[in-house]
Amino acid sequence: MSDVMQSNKFKSIELPNRFALAPMTRTSAEPDGTPNSLMADHYEGYAKGGFGLLITEGTYTDDKASQGYANQPGIINEAQIAGWKTIVDRVHAAGSKFMVQLMHAGAQFQANHYTDQPMGPSAVMPKGAPLGFYGDQTQWQTPEAMTEADIKAAVDGFAQSAANARAAGFDGIEIHGANGYLLNQFLSTHFNTRDDNYGGALENRLRLVTKVVRAVRKAVGADYPVGIRLSQGTVTDPDYQLPEGAAGFRQIVEAVRDAGADFVHTTDGDVNRHHFTDGDQSLASVAAAVEGIELIINGNIDETNYQDVANQFPGALLAVGKKALANPDFVQRLKDGKEIADIDFAMLQPKATIGNELAWRRQNAA
Ligand SMILES: Cc1cc2nc3c(=O)[nH]c(=O)nc-3n(C[C@H](O)[C@H](O)[C@H](O)COP(=O)(O)O)c2cc1C
Repeated sequence: MSDVMQSNKFKSIELPNRFALAPMTRTSAEPDGTPNSLMADHYEGYAKGGFGLLITEGTYTDDKASQGYANQPGIINEAQIAGWKTIVDRVHAAGSKFMVQLMHAGAQFQANHYTDQPMGPSAVMPKGAPLGFYGDQTQWQTPEAMTEADIKAAVDGFAQSAANARAAGFDGIEIHGANGYLLNQFLSTHFNTRDDNYGGALENRLRLVTKVVRAVRKAVGADYPVGIRLSQGTVTDPDYQLPEGAAGFRQIVEAVRDAGADFVHTTDGDVNRHHFTDGDQSLASVAAAVEGIELIINGNIDETNYQDVANQFPGALLAVGKKALANPDFVQRLKDGKEIADIDFAMLQPKATIGNELAWRRQNAA
């Protein structure tokens, strides 16, 4: 019998169960990035729905080029910290723990309140087209290759935002190192064509990632949960593979652990997808084999497979995305043996805002 519904300790925090809400961008903050009451209702709903841990949507980290989407929240000034604090208090009152996801968009840049110029490891655009449900842009812009000074500013932004998140009452930090955003771009041989000590061999491509982990750890202190989300694929290129294969991914997990991360959060199209250039392991199984680091796993976890996944990865948290959108009370429904709905992507159209979701819910109310 799985312990998935039992309380458990995840580093220094006590969680009521092993379910986490996956981070999901909803582009519903104020235009200046301040979190608002609509977002408070939204996150509180998942806490009331039984998720032990919530992870926020990707939240920007500086007033330079980190923001990627219009109406994305930030955590860089007093108003934004205060906005998040209200939401954190509501989530805590409903019984869940809450981590912030800190995100720098890099080349995956569709709108920014502070600048029109994206920055990335190199002057290389993402594959495919921008995401329509996050904005109106139809073409990517060519990013500027980041200088040493730009890199330092980005690291400082992550560190200050982490300190701000602790001040807002969050229970931990998830650094966004996945899905094609800045840190993932540095790891990727598509985006990163640099010939300095941030490019080339994986050891160099890892340099910014480990710098950010170390800076965040230093900003929040030793006792506070810090982790990083990792993937191979990106939002517009889900099949990208690290040329270094499973051993390369293991090297990344070990490096972030050694830099001070308490956990990694692996995400793939399916938690059991075998998609390395070599061997037949999943991202989650490679990470699970690394000692001294906790695990959150994500990818197609639903009511049919959660027990198997929980048994396969003892102690790991199970992060749920689409099934949570469709059923904000997913965990409570499992406990009560109630029916679980499939997602209807119409709820995210024409934009993935909370307002459009609420309109869809009103229209589809039985
Ligand atoms: C509307 C939407 C927004 C998302 N925004 C983010 C985000 O801000 N940060 C992130 O790391 N992943 C984001 N994701 C990816 C999800 O966290 C998750 O990895 C993905 O939905 C796969 O998990 P699932 O199969 O449980 O849905 C988003 C997904 C959706 C559907």
